[in-house]
Amino acid sequence: MSDKVWIFDTTLRDGEQALKASLTEDDKLQLAHTISRLNVDVMEVGFPVSSPADFRSVQRIATEVKGPIICGLARAVVKDIEACGEALRPAEQRRIHTFIATSPLHLEHKLRMSLDQATEMAVKSIKLARNYTDDVEFSCEDAGRTPHDDLCRIVERAIAAGASTINLPDTVGYVTPQEYAAMISHLMNNVPNIDKARLSVHCHNDLGLAVANSIAAVQAGARQIECTINGIGERAGNCSMEEVAMILKMRHDYLNLHTDINSEEIYRASRQVSQICNMPVQPNKAIVGENAFAHSSGIHQDGVLKAQNTYEIMSPETVGVPSNQLNMTSRSGRHVIQHRLSELGYQTGDYDMESLYESFLALADQKGTVYDYDLEAMIHFNKISDKDDYYQLDFVNSTSNSQSVASSTVGLVIGGEKVSEAATGNGPVEASYKAIKRITAMDVEVIEYNLDATGAGESSLGQVDIIAKFDGKQYHGAGLAADIVEASVRAMVRVYNLIYRAQQVSDIKQQRKAG
Ligand code: KIV
Ligand code: ZN
Repeated sequence: MSDKVWIFDTTLRDGEQALKASLTEDDKLQLAHTISRLNVDVMEVGFPVSSPADFRSVQRIATEVKGPIICGLARAVVKDIEACGEALRPAEQRRIHTFIATSPLHLEHKLRMSLDQATEMAVKSIKLARNYTDDVEFSCEDAGRTPHDDLCRIVERAIAAGASTINLPDTVGYVTPQEYAAMISHLMNNVPNIDKARLSVHCHNDLGLAVANSIAAVQAGARQIECTINGIGERAGNCSMEEVAMILKMRHDYLNLHTDINSEEIYRASRQVSQICNMPVQPNKAIVGENAFAHSSGIHQDGVLKAQNTYEIMSPETVGVPSNQLNMTSRSGRHVIQHRLSELGYQTGDYDMESLYESFLALADQKGTVYDYDLEAMIHFNKISDKDDYYQLDFVNSTSNSQSVASSTVGLVIGGEKVSEAATGNGPVEASYKAIKRITAMDVEVIEYNLDATGAGESSLGQVDIIAKFDGKQYHGAGLAADIVEASVRAMVRVYNLIYRAQQVSDIKQQRKAG
């Protein structure tokens, strides 16, 4: 029987903290459900003390998502541990993950304390965390650049204080696989109480070694890998979950280790993270890139036709790449859509059939055929009917040609009232955005604009992702439509709704303070 390696997903914490615009509570909840379907062992879903919004979303996930252990991050200080313990309270199974830096560089310049002082703080925090849960993880931040004997000292005390998982992050992505494996072996051989804890690894990808380092560490005896979907995370990212999970599955013969990951959920989770986080996946990315299973050379194509394993070590179905595309038209009924969505792994609770069907028919009329990817995109972006949104798009009417400036008239429904304005610009998108600014009189600045095609060929949908700034905060808006000007306007309308919701939350807080 092979040993199990625990998968600790930190997409919603380390991954999320690297995004240009924070995710909404709804986005995080949707992703949390998807991550739990992957059957990860632990999911780290936020840093509750960092903001009231983070606290609320950790609490909501802890209440609503079942299956994995729900974990929150906390520095080794009282207020962090208390916030984390409170936010996680509703979870069936909860873990507090507390950390302090241990490398000479971090101790001297960042914390300005000795290793002994850091050890005392760690011990106190672990003991405090144990009042909230028996499942406490302790991380030695920048372990990769910490002398091994220093690690042994603090780890022994952390275990004695009640930590049952010890994580050794390569915080800056500096070490190489052999060095990292040697560090794990040193701890296994020199910490007297090491048998009372599971060793964990957390690798960043600054030198492109996060996955290789994680695999070397489990070969040396670590039994938990911390990772993110698509490898998103600080700077060059974290260890990619789909890669380690598939390495352990495909090379079980050699590594004799396994995970409990449901690999058929990988592709869908990857698509969803990419879309919701506005982080495109490079086409040649292992496992989930668009070209991961595409054979271009004639020799390879010929080989695969004769015997698939000549050039393919795993089939696309293993990671859940849909094998067939069922084309749907305006004649397809609700039950066909529901059936197709359930084949794609969506449950009826994931979407509102009535609003989805309305969008489906509108799209089918425009495009003729609606593909799987259209359906998925509708779920991600139009899942919740916009009927209740404060800002709604009524119409956009733009004209442009190569000889003159573009003009656009945009109609919005704001709080139930119809308003419209016209403007000109260098192109129809700029003209539309100016028209919206005229309507709202709000100075929303677009700092990033991305246009992509979702789907294949001429029938693709335009997908627009923008990062916009208002009042010092950044917001991510996404819009999808057959017409790219409409998609751009939809992305902007989404931003306005996010700003509106953020203002409502801050009004409520003000009222509470005043009351
Ligand atoms: O990279 C790191 O060291 C971390 C810790 C907080 C675990 O993310
Ligand atoms: Zn990290």
